[in-house]
Amino acid sequence: MAVNLEHRVAIVTGAGGGLGREHALLLARLGAKVVVNDPGAGVAGQGDDRRVAQTVVDEIRAAGGEAVASLDSVAEFEGAQRIVQTATETYGRLDILVNNAGILRDKTFAKMEMSDFELVLKVHLMGTVYCTRAAWPIMNEQGYGRIVLTTSAAGIAGGFGQSNYGTAKMGTLGLMNCLALEGARNGVLVNAISPAASTRMTEALIPPAIGRHLRPELVSPAVAWLASDACTQSGLIVNAVGGYFACQRMVEGEGVQFDPTQPVTADMVCEAAQRFGRMSNPQPVDPRPLGNLEARLQALGLD
Ligand code: NAI
Repeated sequence: MAVNLEHRVAIVTGAGGGLGREHALLLARLGAKVVVNDPGAGVAGQGDDRRVAQTVVDEIRAAGGEAVASLDSVAEFEGAQRIVQTATETYGRLDILVNNAGILRDKTFAKMEMSDFELVLKVHLMGTVYCTRAAWPIMNEQGYGRIVLTTSAAGIAGGFGQSNYGTAKMGTLGLMNCLALEGARNGVLVNAISPAASTRMTEALIPPAIGRHLRPELVSPAVAWLASDACTQSGLIVNAVGGYFACQRMVEGEGVQFDPTQPVTADMVCEAAQRFGRMSNPQPVDPRPLGNLEARLQALGLD
């Protein structure tokens, strides 16, 4: 199935540069009308270069596409509401939300100021919550929506000096998992992209020799697919890096079940950890709150 976004209206946050710019350009090339949101913040969230969003809008229009600029910050709910309003007032609807905006304030946890922790949470996690919450009723009422969140390996696998960023990025996945359940009945799909690309955010982290293979436009096709009718799944984490695409998920290794009618001691768990700590035969985490507890109890002759 071809990815076609004609008649769709999309918002891309943080679309004035880096990955967001590429997402916005591609969505527009595929036919979407795009709200290019960006207040023009620096990597650490400082400053406001208020031209960047309009520059991307001009590029889209020069290529024959439709786009409008939005300069609001995602880090306030009122700002997020105005971003969504820009879509509905300019184009009359909203089908796609790509939560991409982000900043970095890396420091080891010992040196981390709480203000830096909170600001990173505010932009990445609450920014995603605010924009998604503002778009949610519109998408649910119209019975159609595609929401893409941006997570990171720094959350999924950890990143030295990135406790604020990793916490925020992992938080977006909790939001995705819950909203994938809540949106399913109304055709609102919520997925995540976990990218790696050479942008100003990563220029100090990725060596130039490998960085030249990590062009940000190699990530955007996955975002476009997740934003389209061609994608019918919800709750995916798509890793996209240098032309490579794969899905990631939380897994549970083979466990040890003791008889719950008997006492369980710390020594018993310590000994069992030699086995369950190996994470053998990993399976996707069971979405049911108690997993397959019932089957395990039956195997022990308990009901
Ligand atoms: P970037 O720094 O080039 O772009 C981020 C954009 O977000 C900027 O244009 C900035 O003005 C905008 N922004 C910052 N604060 C904002 C706010 N409050 N409201 C609206 N826009 C705001 O960074 P890059 O690399 O393009 O990152 C894009 C997203 O991808 C971020 O969420 C980042 O955490 C994520 N990511 C990037 C990776 C990479 O390898 N480049 C790896 C993993 C995740």
